[in-house]
Amino acid sequence: MGNIAGFGTTAEAVFQNVIKAAKEFYPIFSVYAIHITTVLSPDDCELILSNPIHNEKGFVYKLIHKWLRFGLLTSFGTKWQTRRKILTPVFHFSILRQFVSVFNEQAEQLVETLKNEECNKSYVKVNSVLTQFTLKTISETAMGTKLEFKNKKDQGYKKAVHDIGKILAYRVIHPWCLEEIGNLLFNSSFFKERMAVKILHDSTSAVIEEKEKIFVYAELPKDEHDVYKGKRRLAMLDLLLSAKKNEGIIDNEGIREEVDTFMFEGHDTITTALSFMLMLLANNKDVQERIYSELVEIFGDLNKKLTYNELQNLKYLERCTEESLRLYPSVFFITRNLGEDLQTTSGYLLPKGTQVALHIYSMHRNPDLYPDSEKFDPDRFLPENCQHRHPYAYPFSAGSRNCIGQKFAILEMKVVLCAILTKFILEPVDTPQSIVPVVDIILRTKDEIKVKFVPRD
Ligand code: HEM
Repeated sequence: MGNIAGFGTTAEAVFQNVIKAAKEFYPIFSVYAIHITTVLSPDDCELILSNPIHNEKGFVYKLIHKWLRFGLLTSFGTKWQTRRKILTPVFHFSILRQFVSVFNEQAEQLVETLKNEECNKSYVKVNSVLTQFTLKTISETAMGTKLEFKNKKDQGYKKAVHDIGKILAYRVIHPWCLEEIGNLLFNSSFFKERMAVKILHDSTSAVIEEKEKIFVYAELPKDEHDVYKGKRRLAMLDLLLSAKKNEGIIDNEGIREEVDTFMFEGHDTITTALSFMLMLLANNKDVQERIYSELVEIFGDLNKKLTYNELQNLKYLERCTEESLRLYPSVFFITRNLGEDLQTTSGYLLPKGTQVALHIYSMHRNPDLYPDSEKFDPDRFLPENCQHRHPYAYPFSAGSRNCIGQKFAILEMKVVLCAILTKFILEPVDTPQSIVPVVDIILRTKDEIKVKFVPRD
């Protein structure tokens, strides 16, 4: 139990002090000044996340309401249920399969950039390079629009995404700016935030309008056997427009909420995940070489385009991504507003209306769940070692509100890692000890992560 003053005033101090409190006060602690109770045991997380009564998201999501309004990530109750039903088929494997060509094409461009501009430097600041890549892939897969970053409009979109990220991070560690009134009075970036949101909304609205003009009906796969057999590559937006025209179950406002949600969740999370993973691989050459051997074994010719099916066979690479996300989960905490009184497994009674934070980062470093938990050991995720893994101590969460984009994320990560690791050997610059994680809406470091890329002969 504690007050906000003890948690520090900088993003890195708050991050470290929460970790410290998580160890000291396991399985639960509250910060009275901001009325948040942090839950650390996976059994308590399961109690909360598996009960639909606690389906409403907590305070932090207020931050993104202006931008995302009430899309899948932020809505609750029956609206959330309806949206989850509409959106689940959008992540069906028959749709994901089509995205592999987008991932391949963009990964190739990323490798070219690294070869031409970056790898002669003594190190690459990976976040910026990766953001460009993930924004392009999510724009093409979610909206069916290529972002080129050469024209003013695309540059404006990228800058607005960047600005809003910075402003949200500021508001997280200045909790008096969480409510709109506090934000208006005490945040000098209030109007900048408004402007960024306007740019983001205008961009998505323009794309939706354009797409609607040339709309051709696209069928949503209804189940595992109903595989889409069309010739044109579909974007998630095509499927949402089909759901609107065909079934009338979503309107333009709803479509915009969801496209904005994908644009946000679908790029920042993967940029973060890849940045940390490149750093880990640079520091674990044996793992890097084992991935390379797997690639040689599965693909033989490392210059050919990867297919969806071949990517499924990269089991070791998949374990590496899971293990990297265990150590550095992009979504490192989530929050809920309790819908009724909750008796925790450790004997505490949390009243209805309590704001709870579920601290995923600490849970993943709990030695009872993951022995020798600081060690990067991909074999933790071997099927036989997962048998007793707690399902709620997992980077994509569990239960009915788990990450809908998890297969998309793993697939995109695999494609880009294959592209990078076949062309470069990664050398360490930053290490797990040198990076400084900070509190933000997703996991970030104080300075950009640095890695050296050495071309493979
Ligand atoms: C490494 C990448 C990712 C990680 C670690 C991650 C993690 C998570 C977690 C932990 C949640 C649960 C949030 C909560 O309960 O409050 C979540 C939800 C969600 N994620 Fe992801 N995510 C990733 C990538 C993606 C991608 C690529 C997309 C979309 C293309 C996506 C879309 C969503 C959405 C829409 C939700 C809300 C689901 C709902 O409430 O029904 N995520 N994610």
